[in-house]
Amino acid sequence: MPPAPPKTKKNRLYLDNAATSFPKPPGVAEAVARYMTEVGASPGRGAYAESRTGASVIADCRELIADLIGLKTPKRIIFTLNCTDALNMAIKGVVFNALRSGRRPHLVTTPLDHNSVLRPYNALAERGWAEWSCLRADPETGLVDPRDLRRAIRPETALVSLVHASNVSGVLQPIDELVTVCRKAGVPVLIDAAQSAGHLPIDMEKLGADFLAFPGHKGLLGPLGTGVLAIRPGAEHLLDTWREGGTGSVSEQDTQPDDLPDRFEPGSHNTPAIAGLAHALRWLHEQGVDAIRAHELELIGRVLDRLPEAQAAGYRLLGPQHPTQQRVAVFSFAHESADPHELADRLEHDHAVLVRAGIHCAPRAHETHATISTGALRLSFGPFNTVDGADRAMDAMIEAAATVSCAQIPTSAPATR
Ligand code: ALA
Repeated sequence: MPPAPPKTKKNRLYLDNAATSFPKPPGVAEAVARYMTEVGASPGRGAYAESRTGASVIADCRELIADLIGLKTPKRIIFTLNCTDALNMAIKGVVFNALRSGRRPHLVTTPLDHNSVLRPYNALAERGWAEWSCLRADPETGLVDPRDLRRAIRPETALVSLVHASNVSGVLQPIDELVTVCRKAGVPVLIDAAQSAGHLPIDMEKLGADFLAFPGHKGLLGPLGTGVLAIRPGAEHLLDTWREGGTGSVSEQDTQPDDLPDRFEPGSHNTPAIAGLAHALRWLHEQGVDAIRAHELELIGRVLDRLPEAQAAGYRLLGPQHPTQQRVAVFSFAHESADPHELADRLEHDHAVLVRAGIHCAPRAHETHATISTGALRLSFGPFNTVDGADRAMDAMIEAAATVSCAQIPTSAPATR
């Protein structure tokens, strides 16, 4: 049996929203349970009422997501397992498509990108199916220079993958400029919006991105096990399928159907979680993403106001320190002497503040910020956090640094990298 979480849940301050958001809006868990207890069926797999109800739950959720990102045609919203799955679908789809037409493609990404881009790129390169280049980012700000992107693009470049907001430093890339470089060069662009979707307004059509990947369980506030790949009109022709299977449509055909979304959605959906996600999206639409961004900017401002005290306690903030608009509410701190895992352990056990220490599945981001050998302590906020919570976290961090630096208390927590 895994250990049960401590009973004092109410006092626990969850600051790991970059991993998954918690809590979820009121009613999300009930929507999941309602689907499981009252509907139950797999959509598209029967003509009876429960299966049709399931199909309408999925259609409704697709529309809510399309509205959220300014995409006019909901069928271009592809449900995936998570953001990693959506990124794999786009990356491998583009590479398989290029290989099919006899081209060995070249891919580009940034050092801020997550292992969910770096590992697929490396897996493709190890098989000799693609080669790839990584841009550099400024070690102080974490920003990528659009001129470097222009220089990195070659005639055989088939895809540029760009993380919108870093899951380590929270820095927001100059995404409009970067996408413009790709469009001018005629190169498809994939945006990893894992830390930005739901946290700030995104209009996919205005942005001009070909593919936008994001989880349903972070800024969209739905359950784990949900993700999305949004495809610009026409960009589906750049993608081969990377997995195939039953769709409940054109079953007489033993090859993948051409129509969206079925072409890229083989297998049964996680419909209970999608029901929860639809509920969360309705809440998000009611609040307005602009209002959520305004609230998170207030939290960012509060953390940055407390930065001089954190610095005096030996912390260094990775990435931009101002302006607040240059980032999302994800902060990673290195400490001059204390190990981030020990600090995280103290934060949990002495202060009931829950954070993620380590490399955050983004090794090149930590190389950029010179924290690859130590890792960092990450605090990531969501819409339910408050300014008082930000203060409590900063107070706890400062106290934990004093405790760990003086006592060198051995950590009891397993280190997650
Ligand atoms: N990528 C997620 C994180 O940063 C899981 O924690």
